[in-house]
Amino acid sequence: MKVLVTYASKYGSTAEIAEVIGKELTKREYEVEVKPMSEVDSLAGYDGFVIGSAVYAGSWLKGAAKFLRTHQEILAGRPVWLFSSGPTGEGDPNEIMSGWTFPENLASVREAIKPKDVILFHGYINLDKLNFGEKMIVKSVKATVGDYRDWLVIRTWASMINLES
Ligand SMILES: Cc1cc2nc3c(=O)[nH]c(=O)nc-3n(C[C@H](O)[C@H](O)[C@H](O)COP(=O)(O)O)c2cc1C
Repeated sequence: MKVLVTYASKYGSTAEIAEVIGKELTKREYEVEVKPMSEVDSLAGYDGFVIGSAVYAGSWLKGAAKFLRTHQEILAGRPVWLFSSGPTGEGDPNEIMSGWTFPENLASVREAIKPKDVILFHGYINLDKLNFGEKMIVKSVKATVGDYRDWLVIRTWASMINLES
């Protein structure tokens, strides 16, 4: 069975999460492709999809939101797992984001797709990569800087993905 793991990432940390998910799925003898959404032309030939985006200001990256909307009908007929990555700091990522689990503006798409699971992973704020405006936002909301991605949580989640169930 063939799985597409596709992601939208501004500074690379969500791309690395997608790679780790892809590796975990390969262990289970799925045929896996991992690529950015910007390089996905067609969803033909895949039996399942893992789709994720970095979160900026409570939203998925524009390309990711568009991808989900564009392919909504095909995705509704296949097993789909959705992930977001963002919150930094210790503790439950959903609590850090005050209960946020998925972008509000994609709620109806999510409802149509009926994903098998939706998860929010911790993210990575690397000040060296941010532009001036982003640094100002991080400072003003007092966001915690650093790499909080929890690889065990990510691998465990990926290991529970089962196309046949
Ligand atoms: C300007 C800015 C706004 C952000 N807004 C959010 C947010 O609303 N929610 C969240 O969980 N993380 C937020 N983050 C954290 C990013 O989602 C996190 O750094 C993520 O890992 C970045 O992924 P990327 O490297 O794939 O772009 C924000 C980061 C920046 C720099």
